[in-house]
Amino acid sequence: MKARGHKITMLTAYDFPTARLLDRAGVEAILVGDSMSMVVQGHENTLPVTLDQIIYHAEIVGRAVEQAFVVVDLPFPAYHLGIHKTIENAARIIKETRCQAVKLECGADQADTISALVAAGIPVMAHVGLSPQAVHQLGGYKVQRDEERLLKDAKTAEEAGAFSVLLECVSSRVAKTITETLQVPTIGIGAGAACDGQVLVVHDMLGLTSGYVPRFARQYADMEGVITDAVAQFRDDIRNGDFPGDAESYK
Ligand code: KIV
Repeated sequence: MKARGHKITMLTAYDFPTARLLDRAGVEAILVGDSMSMVVQGHENTLPVTLDQIIYHAEIVGRAVEQAFVVVDLPFPAYHLGIHKTIENAARIIKETRCQAVKLECGADQADTISALVAAGIPVMAHVGLSPQAVHQLGGYKVQRDEERLLKDAKTAEEAGAFSVLLECVSSRVAKTITETLQVPTIGIGAGAACDGQVLVVHDMLGLTSGYVPRFARQYADMEGVITDAVAQFRDDIRNGDFPGDAESYK
């Protein structure tokens, strides 16, 4: 798609009905992201979600999807425990789900990990820029501005065999330079329009995140409003004796 100049659409999903809807709506790629820790499990960051929990959700998403390419996050610290353990963890994802690739938040220092995974036949998406798994080290969720380092991280990931680079929270200008430099596609989140594709957390995009929504997320629906209104209507119908009616009852 990059070669043809066609933009790539990616969204996160964590459950069967959402994954099926996104797949049928025609997104090219779905991410079972560790953002699940925040938007599904209600944690304050992505650190608590475990490999077993990611695999549980990835297996569900993998079963729902017929067309899209499904990438699964390696959660913290699944790829910091040595290369052997990393392959074991990533291989569990590939063996136990129907998903096709893993994503890891990585800098140039993870080149050996990427090549070992690729050598083992596991496609790798590299996540460069803001690393939410390093939030405590970074001192918060901030735009990453070290241009030299960002370019080096992205190029090293490509050279190590990553099939794609996700760029999070980098300036549009740096993302454009990286996109033009790499052969593999870049997928941006808070990285401007020049990337080869875009990804958003589906809860942000559908208006299901009560609370903080990052500046880079565009809300395409108000599902929180839709659900709240439907539930209030249901409650009122029960209170008024309107539900169930004859149509919803057996003779
Ligand atoms: O876990 C996630 O949802 C991510 C986003 C950057 C898309 O990695």
